[in-house]
Parts: sequence; C-alpha cells; structure tokens
Amino acid sequence: MAQKIVLAYSGGLDTSVAIRWLMEKYDAEIITMTIDLGGNTSLEDARKRAIETGAVKAIVHDATQEFVDGFVWPALKAGALYEGVYPLATALGRPLIAQHLVRIALEEDAFAIAHGCTGKGNDQVRFDVSTGALAPHLRVIAPAREWGMSREQEIAYAQERNITLDLNKRSPYSVDENLWGRSAEAGDLEDPWNEPPEEAYSWTQPVSKAPNDAVYVEVEFRQGIPVALNGEELSGIELITRLNELGGVHGIGRLDHIENRLVGIKSREIYEATAAILLHQAHRSLEDMCLSKEQARFKERLAQEYADLVYNGLWFTPHRQDLDAYVESTQRHVSGTVRMRLHKGTSTVVGRQSKESLYQHELATYDASDQFDHHASEGFIQIYGLPVRTQSQVQGREG
Ligand code: ARG
Repeated sequence: MAQKIVLAYSGGLDTSVAIRWLMEKYDAEIITMTIDLGGNTSLEDARKRAIETGAVKAIVHDATQEFVDGFVWPALKAGALYEGVYPLATALGRPLIAQHLVRIALEEDAFAIAHGCTGKGNDQVRFDVSTGALAPHLRVIAPAREWGMSREQEIAYAQERNITLDLNKRSPYSVDENLWGRSAEAGDLEDPWNEPPEEAYSWTQPVSKAPNDAVYVEVEFRQGIPVALNGEELSGIELITRLNELGGVHGIGRLDHIENRLVGIKSREIYEATAAILLHQAHRSLEDMCLSKEQARFKERLAQEYADLVYNGLWFTPHRQDLDAYVESTQRHVSGTVRMRLHKGTSTVVGRQSKESLYQHELATYDASDQFDHHASEGFIQIYGLPVRTQSQVQGREG
C-alpha cells in the first residue's frame, strides 16, 4: 500500500503544484484538506480541483465556528494585538488548520502532513511547531521550502502536467484571509514608501467614498464575549460578519504595518481587520470600567505576551493554557454595552454602561450627590507623602 501525505490545500497555484510534486517525489497518495475559516474559500471548487490534479481524496471542512469560539474569542479577551497593531487573523488560523491536518493524518494513517508555506514566513513555523506539539511523530513536508521554483517555473511545471489553473483570478498580492482579517503582501507593497493602491484592499471602502453621516453601533459583551449588536443577540460569526460589513462601508479597519517576523526580517503588511479593530476597541473600553487598576495594568502586560506567543506559533503550549486561565478569570465581570460612532475611517467609543461597572457616579460627581469623603484625603496624603518629605529633609530638595 502506498504511503499517504495529508496536504493543506487552498486551491491556488502553489498547493496545486505541491500535489504533483509530493506524488512524484514520495511516490505517495495525497489527501488534501481545505478548511474554511470564514474567508473567501470555495470548498467545492477546491475539492474538484484537488481530485483533478491527482489527489486520491479531497476533504473540505468549514471550521469557522470553531475558529471563532476557540481562537478568536480567547485572543479578543486577552487583548492580543501583535506589536500593538495586528489582530493576528492568520496567526490564529494556522494552529486550527494544523489541528485538522493532524487529525486527518492520524485517521488516515499518513506518515506526514504538508503545507504550501515558503521558508521565509511565520506560517511555516506555526504549522510545524503546532504539528510537533500535537503529534511529534508526524513528519512535516513543505514543498515550497524545498523545490526552489520561481513562479514562472511553477507555471511551466503545472502546464507540463496539465494541471488546470485559474491564473486570472489571482490578485497581484499575496493575500490571506479569514473572518478575523485579511492581509496583503508583495508586489508594489514591498516598497514601504508606496502608498497602498486601492486594489490592495477589498473589505473596506476608501474614506473618500464613506458616507458623510456617522453611524452608531452598540456592542454588548457578556463575560468578555460579544453577544449582541444594537440589542440583537447574534452568533459570533454573524456578529463579526456584520461588523466587518458595517465598518467596511465607513472605511474602518485598514492597517499598514512594518512588522517583525519571527524569522528575523521586517515585512510590510497591509491588513483589513474591521470587526477585530472595533471589537478590541469596545472590549478594552468596557474593561476600563469593569477591571481594577491593577487588573488592567497587569492584563496589558499579559496581552503583549499573549500576542507574541500566538504570532510565534506557540498556540498549543501549556504557557498559552496558563495565560488563558488568567484571562478567563479577569473576564468574570466584563459584561455590558459599548456605544461606538463610525465615521469616515474612524471609530470612537462614545458611551459605555455595565451593571458591574466600578465607575460610581456618587464617587465621581462634583454635584450635590457627592459621597466621596474629601476630609479623608488629608490623612491619606499625610501618609502617602511621608517618604517624599523625609527624603527631602534628609537628603535635600530636588532641583
Ligand atoms: N504577516 C502576517 C502573519 O504573519 C500575515 C501572513 C499572511 N500569510 C500568508 N501566507 N500570506 O501572521
């Protein structure tokens, strides 16, 4: 019986060529797996093309729900933005894809999994390290890391073997997308001085075409998870989809980031992450009301750790589980509603309310209902300022 390899298959040029390359090089049967994480994936097209290209079996799977519940919400609750900017759409998707590759490899008794990543990016690391965590005995093969073909050579390779390709559909950029965001790289974007042309974007309108009138949106959270928009309870998928659409119309969600890859190079990334940006902003402003100062400060440090860990391919580690446990605990009282104004490319939090808010009007107010004990401040400051006075007396005044 021939040995088997399970290949993560997008339906594009690289992974189509990879089907044949793996068959020829390993004399193996190729099982493809195509996963939809809420991007622009046509599962049926991918399935057909995989079989036409020579796969013995083509598995397709919609994992959008798993993606939202198991990856997107934990990252949102953690406040994970890589380098304070990137909401990690691709980085969160890769471990889930790896998990399914491994599952199928075990079911099919394959000796290896394979993916289409090059040797230059973060994605190879995420696939390889995730696979190592879940099934250390499996081999990982990355044809594009080994074959050394240029794009022209790949096309020639495909044509010699009658692999049908849909080259017209290809964007001039290297694009990856799922429900949480879209990224574009390469082409004229590689010059960081070049303003991205409109065609680099697909989720968002330019600000010049955004409506003149602002729109308001209310996002309700329950224990850190968004559950309703404008009072209507929605599934996570529906809520993210609607925010992507609504914010996209108003030109919200574009990011232009010079990013530090794990492999040591800087790259210029154009992202669209409309719902992700809106939800991080709203979630954060609810936390401002519902967490103590110490919780908020500590959580901010943790957010950076969490983002680095996700970006660097360490999802399936005990460290992530431990961070998740802390984050989960912080979200017990993060429930309430945030009101945002979307207008001409910007989103602004304009209101927030929570039954568990630590903001108390009778403590904050300057009007007659004030409950704060002004006299108590005197004693407090006596003690608080004691070391400052002591030092000044003993060592002299500063400045
Ligand atoms: N730079 C982003 C990241 O590392 C996006 C990567 C997109 N991947 C791709 N194969 N186009 O997460």
